[in-house]
Amino acid sequence: MTIEHTLSIIKPDATRRNLTGAINAKFEGAGLSIIATRRLHLTQAQAEAFYAVHAHRPFFKDLVSFMISGPVVAQVLAGEGAILKNRDIMGATNPANAEPGTIRKEFAESIEANSVHGSDSPEAAAQEISYFFAGIDIVK
Ligand code: CMP
Repeated sequence: MTIEHTLSIIKPDATRRNLTGAINAKFEGAGLSIIATRRLHLTQAQAEAFYAVHAHRPFFKDLVSFMISGPVVAQVLAGEGAILKNRDIMGATNPANAEPGTIRKEFAESIEANSVHGSDSPEAAAQEISYFFAGIDIVK
């Protein structure tokens, strides 16, 4: 295993319910380090660009509306196998299918308001990290 970086977003349903600390405790408790963090309120154009890969999906419009409905916390997580590890900690996209103990099982409200986003591949991680952070923002 090598040390990887992955992009995490704590979504508006979670910031609204003051769950940032509880979610970060899950990351850190599982051995991931938060090496960059930034709270921001996305514009429609920013959310559309971030999720451009889903632009043709039927849920795209609702997804963008949800992602701009409140603040988000974008973060870079680092650790051994961080990309897959983060996806394990998050649980399945649909909380109804998520394993006990995962963030989405414990906190998500629905498949849309599912509390967290995480990069799904090394290519996506590199692209998504560079969307939110410059090299100087990432402190190992
Ligand atoms: P995320 O990992 O942020 O990537 C795309 C998001 O689209 C996903 O999490 C879900 O929150 C959201 N989404 C909404 N509806 C669906 C759906 N039917 N299938 C997959 N993702 C969905």
